[in-house]
Amino acid sequence: MTTIAAPLALMAELTHRCPLQCPYCSNPLELLKAGAERDTKFWLGVIDEAAALGVLQIHFSGGEPALRQDLPQLVEHATARGLYANLITSAVTLDESKLSTLAQAGLAHVQISFQGARPQTADRIGNYRGGHEKKLQMARLVTQLGMSLTVNAVVHRQNLEELPAMIDMALELDADRLEIAHVQYHGWALKNRAALMPDRAAFEAADAIVAQKRQALRGKLTFDYVVPDYYARAPKTCMGGWGQKTLNITPDGRVLPCHAAETIPGLTFDRAGTTPLAKIWFEGQAFNAFRGTAWMQEPCASCDMKTIDFGGCRCQALALAGDARATDPVCHLSPLHQQILEMAETESMADERDFVYRRI
Ligand code: SF4
Ligand code: FES
Repeated sequence: MTTIAAPLALMAELTHRCPLQCPYCSNPLELLKAGAERDTKFWLGVIDEAAALGVLQIHFSGGEPALRQDLPQLVEHATARGLYANLITSAVTLDESKLSTLAQAGLAHVQISFQGARPQTADRIGNYRGGHEKKLQMARLVTQLGMSLTVNAVVHRQNLEELPAMIDMALELDADRLEIAHVQYHGWALKNRAALMPDRAAFEAADAIVAQKRQALRGKLTFDYVVPDYYARAPKTCMGGWGQKTLNITPDGRVLPCHAAETIPGLTFDRAGTTPLAKIWFEGQAFNAFRGTAWMQEPCASCDMKTIDFGGCRCQALALAGDARATDPVCHLSPLHQQILEMAETESMADERDFVYRRI
């Protein structure tokens, strides 16, 4: 019998509302309106249950979580329950007073998303004029207020040349961590794949820059690097393994094993506040659907890597292979791997530059 450990982290998606319109938005295709959001009492109860279950970190996320008036109250409650509270934000709706209140409430860490290093590039990608400058101001305040800062930079064909400048920006902002993530092609990002896909040469150049800077800045800036799936040989261990480390709660209270799990047919998502969080984590149908390795098909079923990468990403397997149980086609052992690689190379050469923006 496999022992299931307590989850490490809870992703609290407080709202889908967001002032930015990024073309690679990772929220579901069907966004929930404000009226569907759960109230403060619900989230306070979730925090109590998460702490009792052994969760160590809570990530307040969205959409834009800072649009919720009760965010300081939720942060304060999470901190009082011993959780490490992190805010994942676009920062454009924050100001000095809101950030100070959050710092006083116990917020330990802030992750601010940047769409580029130059204002013209970044504001065009997020379709929000003045956004980049506001993010810089808020990032400086985060560290002045004594909180840890992570700069999140999503990279793709239309901003990859700014990668060295993004690294300089993270240093100038005194960030502890820089997360450079190539776009993950799920959901909305699929609509913009031809406008976003880098070519292989650009990807290899980015890889080399990250490797060199990571070495040179050791002890000064921590790098997290998410490679572009389609050019990889091995898939990523998505979510640290399905149902192993993280649970996501949607703005309307459904508990998911990953943010895109709703794209997979046949899964049942229980509701927090109705079913105990511990029961959902240990016994929930969706959490057990791809837990461990028993569900795997070949070539994963007999592969040495199966307890390391767990066959890659289930949502990507569904999107690219049409079967959530298939080997993630990013893996070089998948029969679809070559096809995916050729498709990426073709799309990287597309003339497409315009974005289909994400609007709620
Ligand atoms: Fe991972 Fe499956 Fe590929 Fe093996 S075959 S490396 S388990 S994705
Ligand atoms: Fe759902 Fe990877 S995004 S398993």
